[in-house]
Amino acid sequence: MTNSQAPAALRFSVQSRPDPATDEARAAVLADPGFGTTFTDHMARIAWTKEQGWHDGQIVPYGPITLDPAASVLHYGQEIFEGLKAFRHEDGSVWCFRPEANAERMIRSAERLALPTLSVPDFIASITALVQADEAWVPAYGTGETSLYLRPFMFATEAFLGVRPATEVTYLCIASPAGAYFSGGISPVSLWISTNYARAGEGGTGAAKCGGNYASSMAGQVEGIAHGCDQAVFLDSSTHTYIEELGGMNLFLVYKDGRLVTPALTGSILEGVTRRSIMQLGAEMGLDVQERRIPIQEWKDGVASGELAEVFACGTAAVVTPVGRLVWEGGECTVSTEPGEVTMKLRKTLLDIQYGRTPDSHGWLTRLV
Ligand code: COI
Repeated sequence: MTNSQAPAALRFSVQSRPDPATDEARAAVLADPGFGTTFTDHMARIAWTKEQGWHDGQIVPYGPITLDPAASVLHYGQEIFEGLKAFRHEDGSVWCFRPEANAERMIRSAERLALPTLSVPDFIASITALVQADEAWVPAYGTGETSLYLRPFMFATEAFLGVRPATEVTYLCIASPAGAYFSGGISPVSLWISTNYARAGEGGTGAAKCGGNYASSMAGQVEGIAHGCDQAVFLDSSTHTYIEELGGMNLFLVYKDGRLVTPALTGSILEGVTRRSIMQLGAEMGLDVQERRIPIQEWKDGVASGELAEVFACGTAAVVTPVGRLVWEGGECTVSTEPGEVTMKLRKTLLDIQYGRTPDSHGWLTRLV
């Protein structure tokens, strides 16, 4: 599509916060941001009604929202979200990693949850307006693995208890300064094989980024923590045989012979933007990238035979996180006690692109500030 045919993006009015965080308060947060606990001064908001479509783009002070107790999101969970990051480069500019991929996924999620679709230009306009308003909250270049985590989300606000798609919907984007997702940094995490609980099933919402999928992953995660693990790995719901994902992250297996293998998208796995990027970077490094169904037994056998060298999880929040122990009812195995070489190389290659330390030869970065 040429520029002259491209739909004009929504414009955002800006209502500045009268009481923004002081420089000292913001500096204290940015010194040790953690993950997902503190939020910037503003948020982006867009309203949708069946009659008017998307309208009224605004940047407003961050704060609690008012919802009618009958709002259908509270009853039927008609809600979707995204996660992406803005990175400060050495020259002070701020860049987002593949925002159009998140926007396109949000469209697919909206279609699955019978929510209205927000166009790619409107999605990107919302994050651009928010990051421009709250630029001071983007951590400085060179402060470790820090970024501004952006959380766009959309939910049904119509007060109506009948089960049908809502006629009133709100889109918000909030922003949170972020450090490492796992407090242990990049030391290998342990996974519990969830066999009592599946995350998603055939024909369900597993490929959509909707809150319900995350809610359904939590019982498995609780079970995993009770067994001394950091996270749970979910299997396919019909045969309990094949690896799907962790709930909030995709998985990769690295073999000694150079195979880089990840579960195929079966319709119940979320297609991660990081997953897709890692597959491309892996192929460019000369790895034999395979997307296929992976029996959980293959992992155990690979550790036993020594053929499996590394396992890692990946996602926007967790970047690339090595996996060490795999635990199940009555057994466990450890692929590696240290982060693997391929894992760390892929991790570094990705972060170097995101922080502008290497040329963006794929055209993955969009400048926001
Ligand atoms: C992300 O990586 O952005 C996620 O959505 C995972 C989790 C924090 C929900």
